Amino acid sequence: MTLPSQGAFDPYVVRRDFPILARTSKGKPLVYLDNAATSQKPEVVLSALDRYYRTYNSNVHRALHTLSQEATSAYEAARTTLSELIGAPDPATCIFTKNATEALNLVANAWGRANLSAGDEILITEMEHHSNIVPWQMVAEATGAKVRYLPVTGEGRLDIDALDGLLTERTRVVGVVHVSNVLGTINPVAEIARRAHAAGAVVVLDGAQSVPHMPVNVTELDVDFFAFSSHKMYGPTGAGMLWGRRELLEEMPPFLGGGDMIEFVAKEGTTYNRLPYKFEAGTPNIAEVIAMGAAAQYLQELGLQNIYQYERELVQYALERLDTLEGIELYGPRDERAALVSFSIDGIHPHDLSMLLDEDFVAVRAGHHCTQILHAVLKRPATTRASFALYNTREEIDILVESLEKALAFFG
Ligand SMILES: Cc1ncc(COP(=O)(O)O)c(C=O)c1O
Repeated sequence: MTLPSQGAFDPYVVRRDFPILARTSKGKPLVYLDNAATSQKPEVVLSALDRYYRTYNSNVHRALHTLSQEATSAYEAARTTLSELIGAPDPATCIFTKNATEALNLVANAWGRANLSAGDEILITEMEHHSNIVPWQMVAEATGAKVRYLPVTGEGRLDIDALDGLLTERTRVVGVVHVSNVLGTINPVAEIARRAHAAGAVVVLDGAQSVPHMPVNVTELDVDFFAFSSHKMYGPTGAGMLWGRRELLEEMPPFLGGGDMIEFVAKEGTTYNRLPYKFEAGTPNIAEVIAMGAAAQYLQELGLQNIYQYERELVQYALERLDTLEGIELYGPRDERAALVSFSIDGIHPHDLSMLLDEDFVAVRAGHHCTQILHAVLKRPATTRASFALYNTREEIDILVESLEKALAFFG
């Protein structure tokens, strides 16, 4: 792996770590701007996957032989690395899941069903991804609780002034996205957590779009649960994590039942394993978890503050350049935002736009980005989104803009 010197961040050096970035199509280089959906993988992640299957493929926690011990210790080392990445006080409170979605479903089901009853309120925001909406709607239906929504302002920020009015003595949980996957808004989580706790609610933070792009510390943010995915932070698909406050995790019933999550099984019933295993039923995605640990180490070595700083400059450049296009509407705050831009261009459907960009091998996403409630607020069924990563460059943004100019000319 290549490391930039003394905190200086050089995306051209970093790019060499990602083999896929050498790809071309019809003679054009890949301009990959769909990182909010999933990011590309560096060599250290690819080789962690390969090394596991080639040299110590074995199940974890279940055998005493050498390979199983090696697999178990690599799996647990990944847990420790990831706990350090997010500032968790104890690796045992970090639970491996298959993605952020499963982590959020774990909280909604295990915590929600045990703690919510008819008339209780679940407060989420209009900018949540479906994975932090639908599980709460489902648990509300099962328990008789009500889901309420914190509005988004015209500028694309959470309407924090509305928070006190929406937090009532019946609010049991507040679910919020750390960084919006459409607006790029970085939400004032510590402030929201402070007010939610004062009202007696627990706070569930969706960190799917923050962990890959900025330093995150769950202890400083003072939230109660935190969910994120490996594949958006340069790790493989099939792995994710839920961090939870120990007291809450201890009290919660398991989410899934099966092997590994038990202490003792008898005909009369079952007692459950200690944390974190109580929530890790069955054989986990061992290779993916180990490689997720490699991705976390990669991010830490590059320095998340360096990455955040670099991507912040990149998105400001993107906003400036995109703003020059005729008929474009850019969504989200203009400053203090994460590295993605969603937009609409008058008279061009986002799907047509993304297909035309693909002619230049520019990969962007078109659609509602799993945020239909937010898109209803924006009064658009779909938008186009360019989302950046640590390996994207200003030159790639220039290519995006040129390609959009061609699309504009095509549609007259
Ligand atoms: C903000 C946010 N939350 C949650 C998710 C769900 O992530 P996953 O599909 O990896 O579970 C996404 C994915 O796009 C997201 O952007």
